[in-house]
Amino acid sequence: MKVGICGLGTVGSGTFNLISKNNSEIERRLGSKVHIAQVGCRREHPDCNLSNVDVSYDIFDVVRNPDIDIVIEVIGGLDVARSLVLEAIRNGKHVVTANKALIAEYGQEIMDAAAEKGVQIKFEAAIAGGIPIVKTITEGLAANRLEWIVGIINGTSNYILSKMSDVGCDLSFIDVLKDAQKLGYAEADPTFDVEGVDAAHKLTILASIAFGIPFSFDAVYTEGISQINASDIGYARELGYVIKHLGIARVQDDNVEIRVHPCLVAADHMLAQVKGVMNAVMVGGDASGSTMYYGAGAGSSPTASAVVSDVLDIMRASEGKTAGNLGFDNGRLVPKKIVSIEKVVGSAYLRLIVSDQPGVMARISTILSQHEISIESLIQKNTRDDYADVVIVTNAVFEESLDLAIKKLSSMEDVRGDVTRIRVAEFF
Ligand code: HSE
Repeated sequence: MKVGICGLGTVGSGTFNLISKNNSEIERRLGSKVHIAQVGCRREHPDCNLSNVDVSYDIFDVVRNPDIDIVIEVIGGLDVARSLVLEAIRNGKHVVTANKALIAEYGQEIMDAAAEKGVQIKFEAAIAGGIPIVKTITEGLAANRLEWIVGIINGTSNYILSKMSDVGCDLSFIDVLKDAQKLGYAEADPTFDVEGVDAAHKLTILASIAFGIPFSFDAVYTEGISQINASDIGYARELGYVIKHLGIARVQDDNVEIRVHPCLVAADHMLAQVKGVMNAVMVGGDASGSTMYYGAGAGSSPTASAVVSDVLDIMRASEGKTAGNLGFDNGRLVPKKIVSIEKVVGSAYLRLIVSDQPGVMARISTILSQHEISIESLIQKNTRDDYADVVIVTNAVFEESLDLAIKKLSSMEDVRGDVTRIRVAEFF
């Protein structure tokens, strides 16, 4: 199948580059590569090498190109995007879009047009960027009666609230917003972020796919974060809470609540740990119980990950395949070496019971340094008359170096019993 990309901004350029970078891996998974037949954009993107692709400066050329089967709409905005997508559908093309406003506001019209033409509309990238929440709800949780969704689904608002909550941060709301804009997370019109409109678009779509209700953007209660000030954040902290901007959709008998507003969240709740521009969505199902999904909610490459996964779904479906009936990667398994534990690199917590004598620490450090292990932190506690607990956190080293060092430490006269080793979790 041939693909046309409309728009070469943050998401479009990420999509183009992701396909170029991972096409061999995609071929291994699907049995065929993604073929980009045309890119439509107002201007080229400095990060994209377009030398081998047909480029048109009129995006409508892409939806009129008879060679193209799948149109990727990543121009954003409402009116032009709507015309573009409807024309693509009229011309029999499947559509992948990252445009939450378009789906939240014109979703029904678009779905109806697509049903009439027998083409697919996919919008994984419209909500929470790199978190595959649409697939999670429509596939992974498909056996459930879904009861509620609660999410941090606007990265810009979460970034601003997180910064304002940092103890000692004296940045103003406007300064923090400017930071988020510089990082490329905010919408073209950042009032959409801080007044809750962006989150309301996303929640509209989530509620629709979770509860099987029409897209109800106009009915979503929407409040942003612009009224939250430092004293609210301080008082909330004193009470054991943090302030988060949440999207909440909940079934109540035959009704459904759909609302977007700031909320006090208990400081030890998992959502309270979601900081900066990260997003998280919790979904409650009657069988699954409460589940939670976390990841980057915006940005070029995470959003591209969602866009391209939709393209791959359409390609699979066109061949009557699904991720499921392909089994593992279409049977194309490539053996990889399993790294033995000695070759794993990581830091470790070591606890030694040592005799309380002069020079013991020096002897321990000498052994560690002989194996090129350095000490990141160290605690000593005199737990008994003659013995002390020494706790060391090392830097990241090969396990085999640590094995040798532990062996030597254990055989020291000053060390009593075995050395306790617990690995430190660090790369995720
Ligand atoms: N402006 C959005 C956000 C971008 O801050 O989350 C991703 O939809």
